[in-house]
Amino acid sequence: MDTLNDPFGRRIEYVRLSVTDRCDLRCDYCMPKGFKDFQEPEEWLRFDEIERVIAAFARLGVSRVRLTGGEPLVRRDLPELAARLARLPGLDDLSLSTNATRLVKHAEALRAAGVSRLNVSLDTLRAERFKRITGGKLTKVLDGLMAAKAAGFAPIKLNMVAMQGVNDDEIEDMVEFCLEHGFTLRLIETMPMGDTGREASGRYLDLQTVRARLAERYELLPGVMPGGGPARYVQIAGTELRIGFITPISQHFCATCNRVRLAVDGTLYMCLGQEDRFELRPLLRDGIDDADLEAAIRQAIALKPERHEFSEEPGKIVRFMSMTGG
Ligand code: GTP
Ligand code: 5AD
Ligand code: SF4
Repeated sequence: MDTLNDPFGRRIEYVRLSVTDRCDLRCDYCMPKGFKDFQEPEEWLRFDEIERVIAAFARLGVSRVRLTGGEPLVRRDLPELAARLARLPGLDDLSLSTNATRLVKHAEALRAAGVSRLNVSLDTLRAERFKRITGGKLTKVLDGLMAAKAAGFAPIKLNMVAMQGVNDDEIEDMVEFCLEHGFTLRLIETMPMGDTGREASGRYLDLQTVRARLAERYELLPGVMPGGGPARYVQIAGTELRIGFITPISQHFCATCNRVRLAVDGTLYMCLGQEDRFELRPLLRDGIDDADLEAAIRQAIALKPERHEFSEEPGKIVRFMSMTGG
């Protein structure tokens, strides 16, 4: 089988596919202020175009796709797209990152479509705080989470962006919540993207200190559950609970990076923390054939930089997180 290798000897086997840049929430570390639905659907790749690109990646050895947004479930008929991707030869891991607001409606259909893993953003368990961070209603998210659990997704991973002075006092509560429900907890350092960069830097919380704090209260066993992703896991002794630390700033993981990102307008981003990109949409709409599409993807992968550069220049990345879904 073909493989895709970047200039630094890393094998690319995972695509993060953003199916929309829109979202029904407004997390202040993710969306531009005053965000309106700025992109016209004509610029969005249609399902057949997405399927073509992902099929080409799969022929080049990509076996894992994660659906992201914005909020992926605001894209109409997402379960249909999921089902089409799940059927592609070579793809054996189809996952979704969501804010859970629409899971009551869609959890069953996503499962039936072949989505096997679910990550849910949840920064707080307090309704008022949730409203302040996201603009939305916590109950909707909790209902969605429970619907996903009932639909049989396991383990569900909760993504908590840990922010100094915002939710750093809630990490232990989140640990207990995950213990109670059998969720996996992932703590994430805020990455400075778009104009949110300066603010994000002001609330930066070094997760190495959080890990030390948790180690005083719980016995943490290192090194379980490698997943080829950025999280480094520990397990709380005597429990099933795993906690993943995603530390792009305090301890980056670029040497083992295995992924690229496809935005909804057909732009392929080589790194979350760099601007290197390659435009696939014009090629697709000019009728490129499969062999040339594969060659174009190889050309794009050759542009992948060695590592992200959040820490050196906060605010350097001009696009917002909502364009690539993390
Ligand atoms: P798993 O496949 O379940 O491990 O998922 P994941 O952690 O790769 O994906 P998820 O969408 O849950 O993202 C969690 C956090 O990791 C988000 O804040 C992402 O922005 C961040 N993240 C994922 N991949 C990368 C990466 O390559 N570089 C950086 N800097 N952050 C990443
Ligand atoms: N820094 C770190 N993580 C972020 N996410 C969104 N914006 C940021 C940011 N600026 C996370 C969300 C979601 C995941 C896909 O990306 O919490 O769970
Ligand atoms: Fe929406 Fe997720 Fe961004 Fe929040 S982090 S605004 S839920 S896409």
